[in-house]
Amino acid sequence: MPLIAQLFYLFLPAYAANSAPVIGKCLGWLTGLNAPLDQGKTWHGREVLGKHKTVRGLVLAIAAASIVACAQVVLSSSIPQWLPLVRYDVFFWPTGVLMGLGAILGDAAESGIKRLLGIPAGQLWWPFDYFDYTLGALLLSGLAWRLPVTLMAMAIVLNVVLTTATNAAAKRLDLKDQL
Ligand code: CTP
Ligand code: MG
Repeated sequence: MPLIAQLFYLFLPAYAANSAPVIGKCLGWLTGLNAPLDQGKTWHGREVLGKHKTVRGLVLAIAAASIVACAQVVLSSSIPQWLPLVRYDVFFWPTGVLMGLGAILGDAAESGIKRLLGIPAGQLWWPFDYFDYTLGALLLSGLAWRLPVTLMAMAIVLNVVLTTATNAAAKRLDLKDQL
C-alpha cells in the first residue's frame, strides 16, 4: 500500500496533465486554442492525430503539470518522510513539467498510432489509451531520473487501473462521451 501511495504521489504531475484537457474542454477554457495539433493534416488519407488532440489540451496539460510540480516542491518538507520516491527539492519542478509534457505527448503519439490503425478519434483502445501518458511521462522524466523497471511496470498497471476507474466515473458524470 505505501508503494501505491508513493507511485501515486510521484505521478501527480502526469495525472494533472492527462486530465486538464478534459476539464478545460468541459469548462470551456481557452476556446481560442481549440485547434487540432495536426492542423487537420492527413497521411495516406488518414488523420495524423485527429481532432481530439488540440493546442488547448497541450497548453493546459503543461500548465497543470507545472502547478502540481510547484505545489510538490513547496510541500516537500511537510509530507511524510516515507512518501517521496524522488527528491522534491527545487530541482524537481522542471522534472515535473517534463512528466506533464511527456504525458501529453505520449497521449498524442498513441492517438497517431490509433489513426494509423484506422481507429477513429474518441474510440477506446484499451488498455493503450490508459497507459500512453504513463509511458510518455516515464520517458521524458527519465532524462532526470529513472525508476527501477519493476516500479515502472507497477506504475503502468496502477495507472491503467486508476484511469479506467476515473474514466468510468467521468462517463457516469457525462464528462466524457467515450470510455
Ligand atoms: N484533449 C485535447 N487535447 C489534447 C489531449 C486531449 O483537447 N492534446 C481533450 C479532447 O477533448 C479529448 C479529451 O481531452 O477528447 C480526452 O482525451 P483522450 O481520451 O486522450 O482522447 P480521445 O477522445 O480518446 O481521442 P483519441 O482517439 O485521439 O485518443
Ligand atoms: Mg485516447
